[in-house]
Amino acid sequence: MKISIKNLSKSFDGKVVLNNLNVEVENFHSLAIIGPSGGGKSTLLRIIAGLQNPDQGEIYINDNKIIYDEKLLKEYRKTIGVVFQSYNLFPHLTAFENIVLPLVEVHKIKKAEAENITSTLLNRFQLSEHAYKKPLELSGGQQQRVAVARALATNSKFLLFDEPTSALDPELTSEVLDMIKELENQDKDLLLVTHEMGFARQSCDYVLFMYNGQVIEQGKSEELFNNPKTPELKNFLNKVLEWR
Ligand SMILES: Nc1ncnc2c1ncn2[C@@H]1O[C@H](COP(=O)(O)OP(=O)(O)O)[C@@H](O)[C@H]1O
Ligand SMILES: [Mg+2]
Repeated sequence: MKISIKNLSKSFDGKVVLNNLNVEVENFHSLAIIGPSGGGKSTLLRIIAGLQNPDQGEIYINDNKIIYDEKLLKEYRKTIGVVFQSYNLFPHLTAFENIVLPLVEVHKIKKAEAENITSTLLNRFQLSEHAYKKPLELSGGQQQRVAVARALATNSKFLLFDEPTSALDPELTSEVLDMIKELENQDKDLLLVTHEMGFARQSCDYVLFMYNGQVIEQGKSEELFNNPKTPELKNFLNKVLEWR
């Protein structure tokens, strides 16, 4: 896929969070966004997801401009899947209902068909035995896998993840990353904000390093990790890799 971001800016209460960001990446299936917290990663992802409006600037996904008009955004959001760090699932619904409900309510798919899609997905990701459990009866890793399955249910080709494993224990992290890896192998396009440097390095094609509201370094994963150029990225990698 291809993404172009032009002169993108966003402030909250006078505080600049995205500072005239410019980036263009093409021919990738998986793009990792890394960087210290507070750098604007989540804000950028939410703007790409059409969940927040920029103050200024433009974003093109495969040469299609995202138009920040509420009616068009509603349609646009239906074409992508989004998974956040936590609080993804409706707590009062079972895993099964969590997937069926948006298909019926948002995507206007008939209930029987939605249930079919849901069973197939839960089966595919070895989640069938948990279908009738509510989120609190599932481990964090299982909850996130249900959330990923839900993001996939509509067959969107383009998926956004914001630190999907940062609330999880290490062994649960790997089961979610395994699932994300499997999506990549199936030709889905992914944009992933992550602190999992091993995953960004081994599984993502391309990496953006965000710092203070700008992308200050970018490159193919291996190159970027093997040969960081800016002092900011060197410092960041030293810190996050120190105890590994
Ligand atoms: N809705 C909001 N209202 C006010 N400030 C916000 C809002 N969203 C993000 N921010 C601020 O923007 C900055 C960048 O946040 P964020 O995009 O979450 O960065 P990151 O994901 O890289 O940690 C932070 O200082 C954060 O407090
Ligand atoms: Mg964030």
